[in-house]
Amino acid sequence: MPHITEIEDLKRIYRRRVPKMFYDYCESGSWSEQTFRENSSDFDDIYLRQRVAIDMTGRSTATKLIGQDVAMPVALAPVGLTGMQHADGEIHAARAAEKFGVPYCLSTMSICSIEDVAENTSAPFWMQVYTLKDDDFMQRLFDRAKAANCSAAVITVDLQLLGQRHKDIKNGLSAPPKLTPKSVANMMTKVQWGLEMLQTKRRFFGNIVGHAKGVDDPSSLSTWTAESFDQALNWDRIREFRKMWDGPLIIKGIIDPRDALEACNVGADAIVVSNHGGRQLDGALSSIRALAPIMDAVGDKIEVHLDSGIRSGQDVLKAVAMGAKGCWIGRAYVYGLGAMGEKGVSEALRVIHKELDSSMGLCGRTDIGEVDRDILMIPKGFSGDWEA
Ligand code: GLV
Repeated sequence: MPHITEIEDLKRIYRRRVPKMFYDYCESGSWSEQTFRENSSDFDDIYLRQRVAIDMTGRSTATKLIGQDVAMPVALAPVGLTGMQHADGEIHAARAAEKFGVPYCLSTMSICSIEDVAENTSAPFWMQVYTLKDDDFMQRLFDRAKAANCSAAVITVDLQLLGQRHKDIKNGLSAPPKLTPKSVANMMTKVQWGLEMLQTKRRFFGNIVGHAKGVDDPSSLSTWTAESFDQALNWDRIREFRKMWDGPLIIKGIIDPRDALEACNVGADAIVVSNHGGRQLDGALSSIRALAPIMDAVGDKIEVHLDSGIRSGQDVLKAVAMGAKGCWIGRAYVYGLGAMGEKGVSEALRVIHKELDSSMGLCGRTDIGEVDRDILMIPKGFSGDWEA
């Protein structure tokens, strides 16, 4: 196995191994990709304070997310089409998360279904749901999640319509991939990926095909979202979803303090500060810049998590120091999955954990629960001093 020392190593292997259509799907932001880029680059503007001659033995990154024990404050974010990055990808990722002791969140737009993942893992996972018009489909999704013993539902509120990702249109993204001369020529160079894909029957949107009615082309993400997603969504509707699910609930996709306060009123257990990995509103603030004003607005009313832009343990440390209870990683684990399946996801988690643990020690802290803003140097105006 090659020497993996950083997430970028996994990305290089991933890029060689997986068809361009799916690499591009993962590695895109919407429109100009400004928010996608700044989600990561804004972390570089925050500095860590190194401390010395402080006993750094006996370190622990263990904590709790929505009351559940985790080995580090990290969860695997819901990512659509994960089972196209590697055959049975969702099962591989969920297994790696289970072994590491962090939560796995399954996307509605997964290839493996809720039932597939439940049958092939033993730790309860989290289930992400979109806000769709079809009440029956929504209720069934929550019921299926309950039957699969999911330990939380995650409602994504920032995708009433799909942000445009140019590459997906140009590549004709679909699951399974449509066979065009261009896609076939590219797939023929991805031999291992193709052989593994031929051995699985899971090549369609497993939670949708056979479950959603009245969708013209369920293999197309853009058709499905245009036909099924609720552009009229409001907070009352989100309160109706809350009634459909009686377990722990997380609201994902908050980037404005006013929306964070609304989310506190629907009876959620946590919110995720997220701009959907820069895939929705291009020009929106990066998640790490949006975090502090949201923390100030909600205080200790609700647990706050963050996603979008996390590529290292140092990023996790910075977000936790700014007040996030946990961070969700998406692309960072998909690189590992595409590179080498379950083993690659485990490698991604190992790399991030090592970076988090060592950097925490070098900041003079031994317990993730003691990490606070004192370990950071945040430039003036980082979180905005905007004109009204
Ligand atoms: C779906 O959630 C996507 O961002 O593609």
